[in-house]
Amino acid sequence: MDYDVKDLALSPKGKDRIEWAQQSMPVLRMIRSRFLRDKPLAGVRISACLHVTTETAGLAVTLRDGGADVRVCASNPLSTQDDVAAALVQEYGIPAFAIKGEDNATYYRHIASALAHAPHITMDDGADLVTCILTERKELIPHVIGGTEETTTGVIRLRSMAKEGVLKFPVISVNDADTKHLFDNRYGTGQSTVDGVLRATNILMAGMRVVVSGYGWCGRGVALRAKGMGADVIVTEINPVRALEAVMDGYRVMPMDQAAAVGQLFITVTGNKGIVRKEHFEVMRDGAMLANSGHFNVEIDIPALESLSTSKRRIRDFVDEYTLGDGRKIYLLGEGRLINLASAEGHPASVMDMSFADQSLSVEYLVRNHDRLQNQVYAVPTEIDHQVARLKLSSMNVEIDSLNADQRSYLASWNQGT
Ligand code: ADE
Repeated sequence: MDYDVKDLALSPKGKDRIEWAQQSMPVLRMIRSRFLRDKPLAGVRISACLHVTTETAGLAVTLRDGGADVRVCASNPLSTQDDVAAALVQEYGIPAFAIKGEDNATYYRHIASALAHAPHITMDDGADLVTCILTERKELIPHVIGGTEETTTGVIRLRSMAKEGVLKFPVISVNDADTKHLFDNRYGTGQSTVDGVLRATNILMAGMRVVVSGYGWCGRGVALRAKGMGADVIVTEINPVRALEAVMDGYRVMPMDQAAAVGQLFITVTGNKGIVRKEHFEVMRDGAMLANSGHFNVEIDIPALESLSTSKRRIRDFVDEYTLGDGRKIYLLGEGRLINLASAEGHPASVMDMSFADQSLSVEYLVRNHDRLQNQVYAVPTEIDHQVARLKLSSMNVEIDSLNADQRSYLASWNQGT
């Protein structure tokens, strides 16, 4: 079997951790049992470019049990769990191409390897597979029936491809499912980002001035959890509605020019570039820490930080100390890459359960419906979203009401008044 992982000897540990995660993924387990029985993905070749974690392994195995031929590669050079990559190969027979800390050349070589079986379906977290197919591997386009996309940044790119008319197959935006972003982005990123910062630094959050840049679902989650641990949270935003929401949620809101001078820990979650940059480093307090939880490592202007620095050293795992010309020290966590996956383990399994249930059911939907779809970005069908929510509730033993006939008719009417 073709694969490239750090060390196959790590696979027993990876298998145990994958089994542990599966305990908290009841919805995915139910889908997997049905897939095993019905084989809805028989003969479907899937390339999955995702963070290679215990939860992703659960997804890959579900797709494989549905009959798919799955190849997995990393969607970020620092997010791979090497024991999981080894277990995918050794224990589950799934080709994996991912090594934590891989350089850029290896990262793109791994993407090429994941595409080597000419996929019918691409599964992206950041749109790298689709980008590679549309730019460098155009000969693969005729094989592809569709793709899925996991994250906000990827969806933004895909929409711009669709707008320019260069997208050559339909893609389902899993990120836009309510059962994805309301939970994974908010509670998953919220908890795992704080987890990543704490594992990297062991700082006390209580009393710390934490600047959260971006008040989308991820930023809301990070701010909420930091506040819950006693931090004094400042939010920076460019969207006036989101800024207003942050104010009414109880945070101080100000431009980065002001926040830069007072913040002690900066966490970027905007999906944009150059959020913390030269003029901000110039006014930061000695000892300021910078972390990013957005998809790409462009939110903190690392080249500008390097250019202002006279020296740099790794002071702890995942913490680089930059000494500036005037002697101030600034600490960059996780090389400015997704801190929740670089120094921690990403979102907990119970939230990835819903995201990856959405992924599995979206793949099944693509297999059944691709010939009716255009080369556009599609939302996850509401039935899938509701099905995932219902299964999750039932796994939690939570029951809810349903409309009676009278209520249904009331909602459908316009002439029943007081
Ligand atoms: N993205 C964030 N957390 C993740 C996880 N645990 N597995 C896969 N992708 C993720």
